[in-house]
Amino acid sequence: MRAAEVSSEITQVLVTEEQILAKLEEVAERVSADYEGKNLLLVGVLKGAIMVMADFSRSLRITAPMDWMAVSSYGAGTKSSGVVQIRKDLDEDLHDRHVLIVEDIIDSGLTLSWLLENFESRGAASVEVFALLRKPDAAKVEVRCKYVGFDIPNEFVVGYGLDYAEKYRNLRDVAVLAPHVYS
Ligand code: IMP
Ligand code: MG
Repeated sequence: MRAAEVSSEITQVLVTEEQILAKLEEVAERVSADYEGKNLLLVGVLKGAIMVMADFSRSLRITAPMDWMAVSSYGAGTKSSGVVQIRKDLDEDLHDRHVLIVEDIIDSGLTLSWLLENFESRGAASVEVFALLRKPDAAKVEVRCKYVGFDIPNEFVVGYGLDYAEKYRNLRDVAVLAPHVYS
């Protein structure tokens, strides 16, 4: 589905599918070089990161096993609190692995900083983050994000894996959701 098909539900396309795919090639080139000869494990955070993982992993020039984690962060309202509960844990042992967390978006960064600490405590050799999108609030917490696709404004976005109430994940582009949809 392209943005034109839901034009009445969005206000603006922020990043097109073409821009996303070009960016993933660029980041994959860097990651392929940085992790050459290393025991790399890609860890995707369900469900938002599924599209990024699918396209990014296939752009790599090195073999990279992937694993998945599902977490939920509780708190008042829609903002994450940093209190994270594991809903699906990893299948792989992280000991001596070079872990690259693949994320759709960093907003408050609380989920990610919790994951970083958690993975380090499991004995990973290194833990780094690739986030396709980053919002301005992410700068407020110290979350070590080595690879970033696009810095975007502080708007609620959907598409390319990102949802609103489980909708719009299959939109190819990243777009700002129109306020009338969620109000
Ligand atoms: P945080 O960085 O702990 O605040 O949480 C980030 C998570 O919240 C992401 O992995 C997304 O699942 C979700 N999220 C944050 N901003 C958006 C958005 O604009 N659209 C859809 N999901 C979002
Ligand atoms: Mg997510």
